[in-house]
Amino acid sequence: MVVATLLLDASALALSQESAPKIARATLPAELALLTDEEVARIARMSPLPPIAADATNRFADNVEAARFGQRLFFEKRFSPAGVSCATCHDPARAFTDGRPLAQGIGETRRNSPTVLDAGRRRWLGWDGKFDSLWSQALSPIENPVEMGSDRATVLRTIRDDAELRTQHEAVFGAFPSELSSASTDPLQVGAQRTEAQQKVVDQTTANVLKALGAYQRKLTSGEAPIDRAVAALKAGQAVAASDLDSSALRGMAIFVSRGGCYQCHRGPSFTDEEFHNLGFTGANGRVADDPARLAAVDFVKANPWNAAGAFSDAPSSPKGQMVRALRRSGELFGQFRTPPLRSVAQTSPYMHDGRLGTLADVVHFYDTLEGASPVGHHGEAVLEPLGLTEAERSDLIRFLESLSGKTPNPEWTRDPSSPDARTSPAPER
Ligand code: HEC
Ligand code: HEC
Repeated sequence: MVVATLLLDASALALSQESAPKIARATLPAELALLTDEEVARIARMSPLPPIAADATNRFADNVEAARFGQRLFFEKRFSPAGVSCATCHDPARAFTDGRPLAQGIGETRRNSPTVLDAGRRRWLGWDGKFDSLWSQALSPIENPVEMGSDRATVLRTIRDDAELRTQHEAVFGAFPSELSSASTDPLQVGAQRTEAQQKVVDQTTANVLKALGAYQRKLTSGEAPIDRAVAALKAGQAVAASDLDSSALRGMAIFVSRGGCYQCHRGPSFTDEEFHNLGFTGANGRVADDPARLAAVDFVKANPWNAAGAFSDAPSSPKGQMVRALRRSGELFGQFRTPPLRSVAQTSPYMHDGRLGTLADVVHFYDTLEGASPVGHHGEAVLEPLGLTEAERSDLIRFLESLSGKTPNPEWTRDPSSPDARTSPAPER
C-alpha cells in the first residue's frame, strides 16, 4: 500500500520532468549563448524545487500538531544539562547553522553544523549520510555527550513533568504511557533500573518524540531564490532581471554547468546528486585523509535499530527500508562525503564537513587550484582537476553561488514558540 504510493510519486515525478518546460535557445542571453543543448538543459533542471516527498517511515511526518510539538522541542534547552538545544547549532538567525567551523555543544564535535533547511529532501542525513531518515537522525545529538549530553529518559521525563509539553505530546500521541509515570521508583529517573517492558515503552515513546522533530523539520524549506526567478524567466523566453542574476552571475552559471564541472555532483533543484564523493582533502596530519566518513556510516546505518528497516520505522518494507538493507560496504567509500545541497549556501559559512573553508571565495579557490587536496589520493575523485579560472571567472562563479539563497518562508515555523513574543503571535499556518 505504502510502497504503491511511493512508486506512484516516482512515476509522477518522471512524467513531470519529461513534460517540464524547456529553455529555448533563441531567447538565451548572450552570457549563455555558447552553451550546448545539454548544458542549457542542466540550467532548466535547477528550478523549481518540488514539494518535499512523503516519508512513510514516519506516520506523523505531515501531522501539523506533531510539527508544532516538534517546533517546541527543537528550541527546548531543558533536555540538556548544559542548556544546549537543537537551535544552539541550528540557529534560525543563521539559516539554521552556527557560523562555526566545528559545531560546539557541551564540547566540540568533529563536524560542521549543516543547515536543516530542506533536510526533509535528503536521501541520507549527515555529512557522511549516517542516517536514512530525518526523524531517526535526531536521537544522535540528544544522546551525544559532546552535543546535548542528554538521554531519552531525560527527554521523556522533562515532557512528562511539564504541563505544557505533556499536553502537546498527548494531543498528538494520546495519554502519556502509564508505565512511565512517576512512582516511588521513577523509571525515567537518571540511573533508574528499567524492566525490559519499561525500556520498550521508553524506546517507543522516544520514537514518537523523534518523529515530531522530523515533522517539524519538514516544514523548514528554503524560500524562492533569485535562481528560481531567473530560470522561470529563461523558460518563459523572457529577459533575466539583473536584480536576480546580473551579467556576472549568468557567466558564473555558464561555468557551473560547463567547464567548471560543478553540475556533475551539484545538480537538480537542490544542487546535489544525494551521493557521496571524496574531494581528496588531506587529513589532520596534513597528508592522507583520516576520516572514514561514508565507509563507517554504512556500517552504522545498517546496524542502527532506528533505521528505516527497523522496529521503530512505520514502513520497514518501504523503498527507504529496502534502500538501507541493500547498502554494501566497500573500500572506495573511505573518505567520501555527501554532496551538500547549495541552496542557502551564501548564508551557511564556513564550508565543508569540517568547516575548513571560510568563504565562498575560498571554496572557489579550492576547486580552481585543488590546493589542500592530496593529488594522488587513490580514493580521490577522478573528475576533479584544477580549473585554472581567471580572476573575473572566479568572481562570476561566486556571484552565481550567491544567487542560490532566498528568503526563508513561513516565519511562524522558524521561531522559538516558547519565547514571549511568539506566544502572542498567530499560530503557525497550516
Ligand atoms: C552541538 C551542535 C548540534 C546540536 C545541539 C544539534 N546538531 Fe544537528 N547537526 C550538527 C552537526 C555537526 C551535524 C553534522 C553531523 C555529521 O554529519 O556527522 C548535524 C546534522 C544534522 C542534520 C542533518 C542535516 C543534513 O543536511 O544532513 C539534521 C537534520 C540535524 N542535525 C537536526 C538536529 C536536531 C533535530 C537537533 C536536536 C535534537 C540537533 N540537530 C542538534 C550539530 C548539532
Ligand atoms: C565530484 C563531485 C563534486 C564536484 C564536481 C563539485 N563538488 Fe562541490 N562538493 C562536493 C562534496 C562531496 C562536497 C563536500 C566535501 C566535504 O565536506 O568534504 C562539496 C562541497 C561544496 C561546497 C560547500 C558547501 C557547504 O555547505 O559546505 C560548495 C560551495 C561547493 N561544493 C561548490 C562547488 C562548485 C562551485 C563546484 C564546481 C567548481 C563544485 N562544487 C564541484 C562534491 C562536488
